[in-house]
Amino acid sequence: MQRRDFVGLSAAALVGSRHLLAQPSTRSAATRTALWRPPELRPATAISLRANAHRVHTGVGNGGMAMTLGDGAVGPTLRIRRGERARISLLNELDEPTILHWHGLRVPEEADGHPRLAIGTGQRYEYGFDVMDRAGTYWYHSHPHHRTGPQVVRGMAGLLIVEDEEEEALDLPRGAREVAVLIQDRRLTAEGEISFDPQMHERMEGFFGDVPFGNGTPSPGIAVDSAMYRLRIVNVTASRITRVALSTGATMTLIGVDGGLLPAPVAVDHVDLGTGERADLLVDFSGMAAGSSVMLKSLAFPPPYRGMGGMGGMGGMGMGGGTRQGGEMDLLEFTVTREVRERRWTPTPFPAISLPDPAQAARTREFRFQNMRMQHTINGRQFEMDRMDETVRFGSTEIWRFTNESNFPHPVHMHEVQFRILERRGGRGAIFPWERGLKDTALLYPGETISVAATFDAHRGRFLMHCHNLVHEDMGMMMNYAIE
Ligand code: C2O
Ligand code: CU
Ligand code: CU
Repeated sequence: MQRRDFVGLSAAALVGSRHLLAQPSTRSAATRTALWRPPELRPATAISLRANAHRVHTGVGNGGMAMTLGDGAVGPTLRIRRGERARISLLNELDEPTILHWHGLRVPEEADGHPRLAIGTGQRYEYGFDVMDRAGTYWYHSHPHHRTGPQVVRGMAGLLIVEDEEEEALDLPRGAREVAVLIQDRRLTAEGEISFDPQMHERMEGFFGDVPFGNGTPSPGIAVDSAMYRLRIVNVTASRITRVALSTGATMTLIGVDGGLLPAPVAVDHVDLGTGERADLLVDFSGMAAGSSVMLKSLAFPPPYRGMGGMGGMGGMGMGGGTRQGGEMDLLEFTVTREVRERRWTPTPFPAISLPDPAQAARTREFRFQNMRMQHTINGRQFEMDRMDETVRFGSTEIWRFTNESNFPHPVHMHEVQFRILERRGGRGAIFPWERGLKDTALLYPGETISVAATFDAHRGRFLMHCHNLVHEDMGMMMNYAIE
């Protein structure tokens, strides 16, 4: 832990929060719906999750049919401590197969939610696994073959928060001052149903909605105190890259990513998240007057497509709806409803983290992400349930190098490891502050190559690596790998 860096960065964050006070928005919160906070369950005491379809509020007409866990619009939030054993019983009351995957956690093969483990209507699946990962913002979602997109878009996802003593020692904002949100962009029919029906061009670039949802709430807003908040964000969109920022342009303090806390907090004015990626942020509303509000936005940015001419603009031009990739979106509005004065959160040094060491790498593997003849492939192949594509030695460290030879971005996700991004060549050519620390998903733009180091020492078994754009994933941009 280099204490000097830490002090420098947090000073920058404080400057940023003063900036936040300078230009609060006066925009009305009238069109926002209160962000739903899913109930919290503790799987250390054995819980049951019931996958089912039911009608939910979508802000239009009589709402739409959701597919989710429990009675809400997304699944309950699961909270568990590192070292505890999760006991979860999944009951499938959907009229199609499903299975759950604990995204970011290193669990035994039989608990990982591989699509071959999907269960039919009326069946149960029992999960039991020890939580070995660091405190952080994880999530869970369904993972059946060809049906992950339609199910997750309709709500088959939830937050999974891991706690540990290391993190508790930092005394971060908690309780009502901790907001965790699953971000989705949905497309609604005139009647309010949630549509997911990728047309020809959407089968290539992905499926984009135009209504932001937070924890299943359309156009959400939340009342806050004029104080520091911890904001955990998960990108659960089908295909959208979100450029998360505050409407005031103020900085936020990024404290963690996919695999938990960063080595030190860092001030950022935005964070780019592809599907599956997470950001753990401190956002400071202190000093803001009651009645003022700030929008958490996804800022506009040039769509990262190569050689496709106007394709990226199709959605935005009314050819099927949805805000195009890179289009601006209002994600979550914060309105200060209570002024409080309290002591500032004082940063203490973050715990040291051990990252995979590329000098120990036994070998390097290459993976090429391609799109040809309307197919999305990895090393020229589409997913096959029972074909083993790569075999890795248990306990070894390897470098996996992902190259994007296609025209579309791919959020590349590995099951069963938390990796370290070593370098990015081509394209954006840099590693961003939100790509430090431990990651399980990394955004790969056209023309880019990223190298990651991972140590395969959690469990032996069969796991997956895939693109987390749900359209690409369902079309087979996925492969099996074994740890033996
Ligand atoms: Cu979110 Cu195969 O994973
Ligand atoms: Cu995963
Ligand atoms: Cu992809």
